[in-house]
Order: sequence, then C-alpha cells, then structure tokens
Amino acid sequence: MNERLITSLRQPEDSETEVESLRPARLADYIGQKKVKENMAVFIRAALSRGEALDHVLLFGPPGLGKTTLAGIIAAELGVNMRATSGPTIERPGDLAALLTALEPRDVLFIDEIHRLSRTAEEVLYAAMEDCCLDIMIGKGPSARSIRLALSPFTLVGATTRAGMLSSPLRDRFGVNCRLEYYPPEELVIIVRRAARILRLPLTEEGALEIARRSRGTPRVANRLLKRIRDYALEWGRETVDAATAAEALDRLDVDRRGFDYLDQKVLRAIIEKFDGGPVGLETLAAMAGEEADTLEDVVEPFLLQQGFIARTPRGRVATAEACRYFGRPAPEKTGLREQSFFDENGTV
Ligand code: ADE
Repeated sequence: MNERLITSLRQPEDSETEVESLRPARLADYIGQKKVKENMAVFIRAALSRGEALDHVLLFGPPGLGKTTLAGIIAAELGVNMRATSGPTIERPGDLAALLTALEPRDVLFIDEIHRLSRTAEEVLYAAMEDCCLDIMIGKGPSARSIRLALSPFTLVGATTRAGMLSSPLRDRFGVNCRLEYYPPEELVIIVRRAARILRLPLTEEGALEIARRSRGTPRVANRLLKRIRDYALEWGRETVDAATAAEALDRLDVDRRGFDYLDQKVLRAIIEKFDGGPVGLETLAAMAGEEADTLEDVVEPFLLQQGFIARTPRGRVATAEACRYFGRPAPEKTGLREQSFFDENGTV
C-alpha cells in the first residue's frame, strides 16, 4: 500500500462537505486542548468587550490536530469573517496585499503553513501586524517612492507545524501563542462518537475506543479511519460498528494496535533492524523510508517521540527500549540504556 491512509496531512477528500460538517463550529463543541480553549475564550471575550480586534494568534503543532478548525472557531466566536490562505499559495507580496486590503474591521486572516511564506511577503506582514498598514513601493529606480496605506484592524491567525521554523521577527509579532498537543484516547472517543453521530453511523463505546486508540492522537486521522471503517461495515453487512468490526477493518488498513501505520512501522523497523537501534540521521532515515525528510520530521517523528518510541540525540534518532520490545527485538546494549526516563518531554537526551 503506497498511499498512507492515516496520514495526518490534509487530503482532497477531507474537504468534502461531509468532513466540513465534522468540524466543530464553536468553541463549546471543540473537544480537548483544554488550556488552549480556556485561554482563547478569555482573549476572545476581552477583545469583544473592548470592541477591538483580537491580537494575532500563532497556532502550532503537528498536522491534523485542528489548527484550521480553531481558526474558524475564533472567527465565529468573534462574529467576523475569515479569509484563509497558505504560505506557499502567496507567491508575491501583492497577493498578500490584495488579501489584507479586502479585510473588514476585526476580520480574521488565516495563513496556514505560515513558515513557508516568502521573505518578501513576510516583510509585508510586519507593518500590517504591527501598525495596521501596508507600505507599497511605487515605481522603480531613483523615482521610486513608498506610500503607506491604512488597513482595517484585523487578527492574523498563523498556523505552523513547528514554531521553530518561523523567523523571530514574525514570531515576535504574535501576541497569542498556542501549542496544540496530541489528543489522548478518551478525548478522541468523544470526537469519534460525535463524528459517527453526524455520519449517522451506529458505533459502540468499545468501537469508538478501538478507533481512538489507533488514530495517532489525531482527530483528522480518527475521522478518516471512521469513514473507511464505515465502508468495510457496509461491505460486511454490519449495521453497528463494534470493537471487533473496527479492529478487523483497522487491521486491513495496516493500522496496528498502537495506531502506527506502515510508514511509522517502516521508520521504526529501519532504526531497530537496519541501524541496530540508531543513532541514525534524519536524511538517511528518509531515504530508507522513501519519504521527504520534512514529512518525517513534521508528521512521523513527533508522534513516535510523544509515544516514547524514538528519541533525538545530537548524533541522530535512536529507538527506545520500548520500541525494541514492541517489535519483539531484544533491546541492543546501547538502546537498552535509553529508557524513556532518560529523556525530557521532547525526547532530547
Ligand atoms: N473534529 C476535529 N477536531 C475536533 C475537536 N477538537 N473537537 C471536536 N471535533 C473535532
């Protein structure tokens, strides 16, 4: 299977209207991310009571955890429009200027993958974020001059997989920073049950738990797996998705009991079997797995780190003793020492 079914990267099918409706529209319906939710509720209420635009918000965390959803919720709670774009889509500074000048007072501008904005577009954002204005150069050469255009006060919501990839002048201009974390199974259960309700799919509590446990802590993955399980249930003539049906379908989808998909497994096996537990460099690992290094770093690695299956060391990635045990391998001498307690929460030694 080449296609990665449990990729948390957004796929075309995710933008179907059905999936749109799986997205919660209001903060009260947004499950999990308790701290982010509580903080955002305070900042939104304060902005509303002052009648001002909300300060700029940076959302960061692995793909599929609800950054776009949260941006939409922020706009809805503020009672304003949201315009959405993404870093790679903005080719020239003029593209960004067109978006900014079209904003109405207190609107939300959402820029996904904001770390991929070009340098020149990023510079346009500085004045827009700080002084609500646009500096435009007119003409070329010695007669060129700059004019300043006032913009409506607005809220920029930027999303990125890694805050560290943002330049510091840009990062410094966000007044609110929110880090989204992987969801624990008990929260994913609620998300999956809500999605099943919307899809009118009978799902038992145990069925929901089975899906939740195997969704890589990611609502986008959970919702996608639910839809594929629904297909199998139809094929097998099962009216209700129970734990057995979910497990059977998930096995067929090559999602293992801890939610590792074929790419996770490939990466883990490569470190353990080909590199004797590591350390191995990211580029080497990417070449082995036939994947982009960026995908490994943004999508695969954060979950394996969070699960305590790999750790980062200055010399590369290592598999932990738990990872070796999981694949039925004795922990090699060197990885045997690498129990999780040796690492901080980022998996750094
Ligand atoms: N669907 C995707 N993410 C969600 C969340 N955090 N809460 C509720 N439904 C969701």
